[in-house]
Amino acid sequence: MTGKMEYLTFFNGHKMPILGLGTAQTLGDDVEKVIDAALEIGYRHIDTAQRYNNEAQIGRALKKWLDSGKIKREDLFIVTKLPLTGNRAECVEKHLKQSLHDLQLDYVDLYLVHNPVGFYDVDPKDNGKKMVPDMNTDHVSLWKAMEAQVDAGRTQSIGLSNFNSRQVKRIWQSARIKPANLQVELHVYFQQSQLRAFCRALDVTICAYIPLGSPGARPPGLTANTVNASKQPKRDQLTNPVVSQIAQKYGKTNAQVLLRYIIQLGVAAIPKSTNPDRLHQNFDVFDFELSPEDMDMLERLDKGPAGRQVRGYIPGMENHPEYPYSERY
Ligand code: A2P
Repeated sequence: MTGKMEYLTFFNGHKMPILGLGTAQTLGDDVEKVIDAALEIGYRHIDTAQRYNNEAQIGRALKKWLDSGKIKREDLFIVTKLPLTGNRAECVEKHLKQSLHDLQLDYVDLYLVHNPVGFYDVDPKDNGKKMVPDMNTDHVSLWKAMEAQVDAGRTQSIGLSNFNSRQVKRIWQSARIKPANLQVELHVYFQQSQLRAFCRALDVTICAYIPLGSPGARPPGLTANTVNASKQPKRDQLTNPVVSQIAQKYGKTNAQVLLRYIIQLGVAAIPKSTNPDRLHQNFDVFDFELSPEDMDMLERLDKGPAGRQVRGYIPGMENHPEYPYSERY
């Protein structure tokens, strides 16, 4: 890589590498190979979740690297998430301990509540097949249990994912330990400008998932809009002519321009790839800077809420009182 990694600094002083590796849907034999390749390239921020069913394989790869002395624990930034079936105060410790066991780590750098919607605590790895919504999800008591994980040293920071501004604010107001980061869908077609401004005011950093707009095939459980499947927004960010024109100017790929744009917004990005060349490419975004004019051109590609890809991806979510996507941001 040419150019130097940039970092987001949390309110508590911890630093998150602005570019990380997304691992949703990286499964089976691919996982260890991808983590190996990514660490070799220089990735240090790895994003997973209990729900992704790959923590044990990630843990094996990390252990190999840590045992070999090629990498130190403090150089890594590992993020995982409380599954939706764990959204009750009494479940948090159990799930984080399980993640730490699988990841073979003593602590994670950031533990996120994966989603504001809660489900009953069935086997978290059943992939949503038998999940029944728990309509009594209480974010305030849940957050107290998240704070206790920081006190116990199991995570350095805590945060949220897929929460809307109202839900973030409620937790922020009641928190003894504030959320350090909010992970949400964010890409050039769905730029989340209001949510970004809102979080900036609270000193909550943002991490963008599906930063390339998720161009690949998705399993049915993650298909974007289960509310109205016939109205899937376009996922052609990588071939958008404005992006291509800018990419040509800098001698970069379209993916690199899309990622650089997000980084220059002051947002972290976690592109997923299982392909070694694309892993390289996605990491090589620190040797150029988009001009203010090019930033403006990319800003105009925003489709607002119409650009959102991911909505209720588990049947029944839409009826939950904490379903986050009914509100504008
Ligand atoms: P692959 O794993 O074969 O590289 P997102 O993070 O927005 O969900 O995007 C991930 C999808 O985009 C995956 O399907 C991944 O496929 C593909 N992808 C990742 N990096 C690139 C890239 N640099 N150029 C084109 N496609 C990419």
